[in-house]
Amino acid sequence: MKKITSIPDGHTLVETEDGSETLFSQRFGEACHSTTGAKSETLLHYIEGCKIKESSSKFSPLNILEVGFGLGVGFLTTLESLPADKKWHFISLEIDKNLLQWFKDTHPEFNLSWNGNLLECKTEHFELIIIHGDARKELPLFLSKNNILFHAIYQDAFSPKRNPALWTKEWFTLLKDFSHPDVLLSTYSASTSIRKSLHESGWGVQKGEKFGPKRTSTRAVLNHATDPEILLHLDRSPTPALTDLQIDSINQKIES
Ligand SMILES: C[S@@+](CC[C@H](N)C(=O)[O-])C[C@H]1O[C@@H](n2cnc3c(N)ncnc32)[C@H](O)[C@@H]1O
Repeated sequence: MKKITSIPDGHTLVETEDGSETLFSQRFGEACHSTTGAKSETLLHYIEGCKIKESSSKFSPLNILEVGFGLGVGFLTTLESLPADKKWHFISLEIDKNLLQWFKDTHPEFNLSWNGNLLECKTEHFELIIIHGDARKELPLFLSKNNILFHAIYQDAFSPKRNPALWTKEWFTLLKDFSHPDVLLSTYSASTSIRKSLHESGWGVQKGEKFGPKRTSTRAVLNHATDPEILLHLDRSPTPALTDLQIDSINQKIES
């Protein structure tokens, strides 16, 4: 992955402990990756968490959805990890147009071009489509026109505190409705509220690997029930699942 030489508007550069770089978003008040390592976090949570190499032998094309394109580490690490002969589609979602224009300008090798609100490129082996706009509105619109079932989901929005709209029951229900029965969803977050959102929308919630200072993370599937230990914890915890209704009322309070 090449070093960052120009910085997109609204961001600052952060060097992480494994030597890879990430960006801090002023809009969301958070960095796109753990300071322990942008690259190693992506490898652990997404490439290994979604068993990308194994899945690329099972499904052709392998359909990957990424929630939050950011600076493209998820896409670039996937490209480096998959054997060149595999066929895969990488659909990503991004609300910040500065990031997309910056990625296009700094990666001329992909010949990315705009097609309406889609930034895309197609090669013999992979297709990258980044949907610009609010994922909650744009993903259902895109899926109503394209017949896709996802085999792997990188759930990589900012944290549930900073970016709650992409961790709700309604969001995870939408992802479930457009997923293959053997899908693997993986995320760095292990918060009780997001695990409840996943469980209550029909996902089987499993424990993921630890990374940096975080003791655990989350994997979710549709072909297996929630881990009994996690279920016991969710049942006992008063923390509610996140819902669109709660988020709308938080937004209304901020606006008034
Ligand atoms: C943690 S970063 C993603 C990092 C990225 N996966 C990478 O590897 O570089 C989260 C991204 O989600 C985007 N985002 C936040 N809310 C969004 C929304 N409602 N719709 C689409 N993208 C959103 C942010 O702009 C940000 O770039």
